[in-house]
Amino acid sequence: MTEQLQPHDIRGNPVRVGLPMAMLAELTHRCPLACPYCSNPLELARVSSELTAGEWAGIFRQAADLGVLQVHLSGGEPASRRDLAEIAAAAHEAGLYVNLITSGIGLTEARLRELDGLVDHIQLSLQGIDAEMADWISGYGGSFARKMQVAEWIGAIGFPLTLNAVVHRQNLDRLPEMIDLAERLGCRRIEVATVQFHGWADLNRRPLMPTLEQAKRARAVVNEARQRLRGRMVIDYVPADHHAAFPKSCMGGWGSTGLNIAPDGIVLPCHAAQTIKGLEFENIRDTTLARIWRDGAAFNAFRGTAWLPEPCASCERREVDFGGCRCQAMAMAQDPTATDPVCSRSPFNARLRAEAEADSESDDVALVYRRMARETRP
Ligand code: SF4
Ligand code: FES
Repeated sequence: MTEQLQPHDIRGNPVRVGLPMAMLAELTHRCPLACPYCSNPLELARVSSELTAGEWAGIFRQAADLGVLQVHLSGGEPASRRDLAEIAAAAHEAGLYVNLITSGIGLTEARLRELDGLVDHIQLSLQGIDAEMADWISGYGGSFARKMQVAEWIGAIGFPLTLNAVVHRQNLDRLPEMIDLAERLGCRRIEVATVQFHGWADLNRRPLMPTLEQAKRARAVVNEARQRLRGRMVIDYVPADHHAAFPKSCMGGWGSTGLNIAPDGIVLPCHAAQTIKGLEFENIRDTTLARIWRDGAAFNAFRGTAWLPEPCASCERREVDFGGCRCQAMAMAQDPTATDPVCSRSPFNARLRAEAEADSESDDVALVYRRMARETRP
């Protein structure tokens, strides 16, 4: 029997490896929309490199064996894959709870009916409260009308529905109407997530950064709506990072419960992990998911809390937020081992706040839209 080496974090401390519960399956980076805050990397995977439906089926079986309970079929726009139903069926057959994350564009009533019984839940993105705003933010004329039609079909078929609203300075004042819309559409949940400034969003900090005033009002709106809608609709709220005292526990802790698979098979601890220089990522085409999860150097790099620097190492919150987001530390401090600059105890916090405030006061409304490399556009 071969002896297995104990996995180590970036500083050589032994780490404890738990079981993953959720997997984000990015089926493609193709997307008809061009949202300026897209969480996909700036360098998008080419269509020719995408995993096939057969490859995804094998991955879902491996994931289920490893302990994964739910899979999020995402993208890009997963409906851009003609074989979406085949992929969803494979995830369902592997015994996973299947959540489809979609803009709705590309879904027809017939395609949705095909997914009935294969997909357990749908998460529909919302860019704005009317066509003028939603079509501008998404960079796609007619997207709002199309989305509302899709929401109607989803309701008629009976999929549980969550509306997923990414909020920022341009649409945050319309939050009460977003919550009302979710209620009218019969949603069980609305997720209100303030934009995270990585990747494409980082190119749009000036037009998208919420003001402190907006962030405060949004909190009050959410609290009031939670009271009013108790027992009817859940509101998940991800507040503006840059106005918080402490960071959130990104991914619930690096390499602890979740993993992402990019369209080309690269296995990642989080969607933005490729922005961290020096980490090497493996491809599911070359090895097994269990090996990557347990022994992958990138997964072990920031596992646990033993590697944390001061002030995190002696902080009472270190088991709560694990020092915050590694990708944010990389983006702001150019050091993935630094305390998340969102934390008020980080030496970079004052600079981050000053920059966020300056960005939020900008009257720049020119958006840099997400786009695929030219050769992958029709
Ligand atoms: Fe979290 Fe570190 Fe800030 Fe403490 S010092 S709250 S552990 S980021
Ligand atoms: Fe990568 Fe937070 S987005 S750790």
